[in-house]
Amino acid sequence: MAKNKTAFVCNECGQDFPRWQGQCSACKEWNTITEVRLGSATPARGNSFSGYAGSSGSEVQTLDQIDLNELPRLSSSFKEFDRVLGGGIVPGSAILIGGHPGAGKSTLLLQTLCQLAETLPALYVTGEESLQQVAMRAHRLGLPTARLRMLSETSVEQLCDVALKEKPKVMVVDSIQVMHMSDVQSSPGSVSQVRESASYLTRFAKQHGIAVIMVGHVTKDGSLAGPKVLEHCIDCSVMFEGDSDSRYRTLRAHKNRFGAINELGVFAMTERGLREVANPSAIFLSRGSEAASGSLVMVIWEGTRPMLVELQALVDSSALANPRRIAVGMDANRLAMLLAVMHRHGGLQMSDQDVFVNVVGGVKVTETSADLTLLMAMVSSFRNRVLPQDMVVFGEVGLSGEIRPVPNGQERLFEAAKHGFKRAIVPKANVPKKSPEGMQVIGVNKLTEALDALT
Ligand code: TYD
Ligand code: MG
Repeated sequence: MAKNKTAFVCNECGQDFPRWQGQCSACKEWNTITEVRLGSATPARGNSFSGYAGSSGSEVQTLDQIDLNELPRLSSSFKEFDRVLGGGIVPGSAILIGGHPGAGKSTLLLQTLCQLAETLPALYVTGEESLQQVAMRAHRLGLPTARLRMLSETSVEQLCDVALKEKPKVMVVDSIQVMHMSDVQSSPGSVSQVRESASYLTRFAKQHGIAVIMVGHVTKDGSLAGPKVLEHCIDCSVMFEGDSDSRYRTLRAHKNRFGAINELGVFAMTERGLREVANPSAIFLSRGSEAASGSLVMVIWEGTRPMLVELQALVDSSALANPRRIAVGMDANRLAMLLAVMHRHGGLQMSDQDVFVNVVGGVKVTETSADLTLLMAMVSSFRNRVLPQDMVVFGEVGLSGEIRPVPNGQERLFEAAKHGFKRAIVPKANVPKKSPEGMQVIGVNKLTEALDALT
């Protein structure tokens, strides 16, 4: 009998080591290295596995000889989902949907597969819920149930055997954490089981041209049983996120071999399941009717479309020697940098103030266009001056206090005008030749000009 091989793998970055160590020397995380049993014969290593079904064994070709007839993508029946995947499900690809338990991953995939099964063979493998539970949910949501094939199974080998007979075009495996392989000796959910199961399913997807969608739960700290451990073997990794107390869910690709990763899909969880939000630009704009200081609206750019989001800042004198700087939904380093710029070029000293910043609606802003918005919201709170409610602000702030233009300025302004905003403070280079109707656009070059425009 072949000897069982073991490896030591970092849960965070997936780096292999010959022996255990306390700190991963690749990603510098502590206590992330676990022993992984590779099984007596790591399945299919010896197989000639060469990508998608239909491609020949180990034959060398030049690039121009390769057949470019791309297989048509399968629509998931949700436009938002398709967009995040880069235009639909690629046949034979391996997709991972991650998210916290209760985010709605099973609901999303059940709705998707029920619709897909109307036109092509689809198989839903559930290892978490009983078939009855899934059926009850489908019934309650009023989904077409006649054609979707269901299987309750947790053994990867068994489910692949069934899939070979069923020949589905799309298969869902819910979830990868409960799946196990017989020749891996640790319990389901452990790093080695998850890793081997996911790579087995990925190879299976490619060899047989079946798109496999795996569900993966993230742990409390947001990792996907070691996200990087899985990320390098699958084709797309998308995250389904949202506060459990908010009805909105967002879907975002973290890795996509077939499209861009900056697209955001927005869904709403209703009593009738998930509904896509086709025009999400203002859903995070739930402002009270009364204007308050420190509150300001910005226009961020998400993938291919603008989105209006409210930003709140609270600046309050601090009782601490080291005043607090807390940013929710934004980078705290950026906040520190902007405070320095404001002191140096705006002449406003906030070193004895606590500063709290919050992006409303649980949105995470990674764009620099929020710089100017954040600065002005802080000034508004600091001076306790209410800003007009019909004003939007965006622009990048440089270290010398200059206001830099941001991409898609015109589209952002038009989106704001569409939602009834009447005033905008933007970088001078972003001022369009013709302002949107009914909107006064003020272009600024320097931080001081922006602060003047407030008065
Ligand atoms: P689920 O898809 O089971 O989550 P996951 O598979 O990601 O763990 O979704 C569960 C949550 O969604 C549950 O808390 C209830 C809510 N929900 C609704 O609000 N409406 C619905 O129609 C459904 C099916 C679920
Ligand atoms: Mg589930």
